[in-house]
Amino acid sequence: MVRRALSAALALAVFASTTLAQKCSKDSKCPKDTPCCSLYGECGVGAFCMGGCDPLMSHSFDSCVPAPVCKSANYKFDDLNDIQSIDTYFGDASKVNWQSQGMPEKYDGSVLLTMAEGTVGTLLSSTHYVWYGKICAKMTTSQGKGVVTAFILMSDVKDEIDFEWIGVDVEHAQSNYYSQGVTNYKHGENLTASNTVKDAHEYCLDWTEDELTWSIDGNEARKLARDTTWNATANRFDYPQTPARIMLSLWPAGLATNEKGTIEWAGGEIDWHSKYMQNGYYYAEVKEVTVECYDAPPMAKKNGNKSYKYTDDAATNNTVEISNDVVVLGSLMGTGEEPGEASKSSDGPAPTKSVAMVPGGNPGGGNRQETAVPNSPAQQTGAGEGGPFAADPTAGGGGGSGQEFQQNVNGGSSIQPHLNNIGGSAFAIVIAVLGLLVL
Ligand SMILES: *[C@@H]1O[C@H](CO)[C@@H](O)[C@H](O)[C@H]1NC(C)=O
Ligand SMILES: *[C@@H]1O[C@H](CO)[C@@H](O)[C@H](O)[C@H]1NC(C)=O
Ligand SMILES: *[C@@H]1O[C@H](CO)[C@@H](O)[C@H](O)[C@H]1NC(C)=O
Ligand SMILES: *[C@@H]1O[C@H](CO)[C@@H](O)[C@H](O)[C@H]1NC(C)=O
Repeated sequence: MVRRALSAALALAVFASTTLAQKCSKDSKCPKDTPCCSLYGECGVGAFCMGGCDPLMSHSFDSCVPAPVCKSANYKFDDLNDIQSIDTYFGDASKVNWQSQGMPEKYDGSVLLTMAEGTVGTLLSSTHYVWYGKICAKMTTSQGKGVVTAFILMSDVKDEIDFEWIGVDVEHAQSNYYSQGVTNYKHGENLTASNTVKDAHEYCLDWTEDELTWSIDGNEARKLARDTTWNATANRFDYPQTPARIMLSLWPAGLATNEKGTIEWAGGEIDWHSKYMQNGYYYAEVKEVTVECYDAPPMAKKNGNKSYKYTDDAATNNTVEISNDVVVLGSLMGTGEEPGEASKSSDGPAPTKSVAMVPGGNPGGGNRQETAVPNSPAQQTGAGEGGPFAADPTAGGGGGSGQEFQQNVNGGSSIQPHLNNIGGSAFAIVIAVLGLLVL
C-alpha cells in the first residue's frame, strides 16, 4: 500500500521532467551530459546532483556531490533563515541546514509544512546526512482524508526509515523501513500515539549499526535488530545502513488522479474545502528537530571527516567512505564532476538546450522503489497539467487572503522565495532551462 501511495506521489513528482529528462535505474545509468540520477529516477544536473542523487544510477560515483557529514544540532524554527529553496541551494551545507520544496511557512517559533489546493505539499530535507544517530522531531501532523504527514530518513541508495501519519487516523503513526528501495509489504507496523494533530509529540529514530528504535515521547514503540534482517538472496542485511537525509513532509496521497489503492490507504480523496484547512492549506507543525550523531561504523573507510561517498555498487555500510571532499556547485548547471564557476555577470553562454536542473518535488519523500523501476505505471502517468507545486498563486501566502488563520500564522515573513512568487509557469522552478541560468 505504501508503495502504491508513493508511486502515486511519484507520478506527480516526475511530471515536470517526464517530457525532458531521461530515466535512470541501476541498469540504465545517466548519460555524461546529464549525469545525476535524482531520487525520482531521472537524469539531470544541478540539484539532481545533490541530496538524493543516487550514485548507483548516476553516470559515475563522482557525478553526485559528496554528502555532507552528520552534524549534531538542535534545530528550532524561529525563522526560516535556515531553510533554502531547492532551486537556490548549490550545496554549501555550512551555510544552510535545510532545503525546501513547496511552501514552508513560519508560525510561532515553528515551521509549518503547508499544502494548498493544487499543490503537492511541502518537503524539508536536511543538507547534512546522518550515518547513525538519534534523530527526533517534535511535531504535529495534519488531518483529513488523503493527507499524509511524514518524518523519514532516506539515503541516496534508498535505505529508508519512516514515521508516517495518515490524516484519518490521528491515533497512530505508521512505522516502516526499506533496504535499497526494495518493496516489502511486511515491514510496516502501526504505533500508538494519542491525537497526533492536537498534541505535539516527540518522535525519535535511534539508529545504530545493530539496532533501530522508533520511540514516541521517550517510550520505545518498536525495535528492529539488524541480525533479524538477513536476506540470503541479496547476501546482505535488509537493514538501513547508509548515510541518510532527514525529511519532513506533507503530501497529498488522496488526489483524485492517484491510484485507487493509494487513495484508500490514505483514507479517501482529499477535500480541498476541509475544516482541517486553515488559511487555504493543510498544515503540519514542526517545532523542533534534534540530531545526535553517532560514530561512523568502525569498518568505514576514513580518509577525512567532511563527506560521505560511495565506492562500490554494493552500497552496503562497508562501501561508504568518509572523505574530505566538498563540492559546492558554481551554478545549477554544475555536477559533482564539473561543479562550474559561480556566474558573475549576465554574459553567460547562450542557451543551447534544455536541461533539467531541479528535480520534481516529492513531498512524500519516500518514493524510493519506483525510481528503480523504469517505465513503471507511475512514471508513465504523466499527470497531465499541473503536477508538483503547480501552486495556486494565491495559496499558502500566509495571510492576505482575507481568511483569518486561527492560529495566528506569522505570515509572509519567510525570506525564502516561495514558489508562488516565481510567477509564470509553476515549473519554471522545477525544470529550469539553460536559458534561465543566463541571468
Ligand atoms: C495500520 O492501521 C491501518 C488503519 O489505520 C490499517 O489499514 C493497516 O493495515 C495497519 N497496518 C498494519 C501493518 O497493521
Ligand atoms: C531480498 O533481496 C532481493 C534483492 O534485493 C529482493 O528482491 C527480495 O525481495 C528480498 N527479500 C525479502 C524477503 O525482502
Ligand atoms: C577533521 O580532520 C582534520 C584533519 O584531517 C582534523 O584536523 C580535524 O580536527 C578533524 N575534525 C573533526 C571534527 O574531527
Ligand atoms: C557493516 O559491515 C560489516 C563489515 O563488513 C558487517 O559485519 C556488518 O554486518 C555490516 N552491517 C550491515 C547492517 O550490513
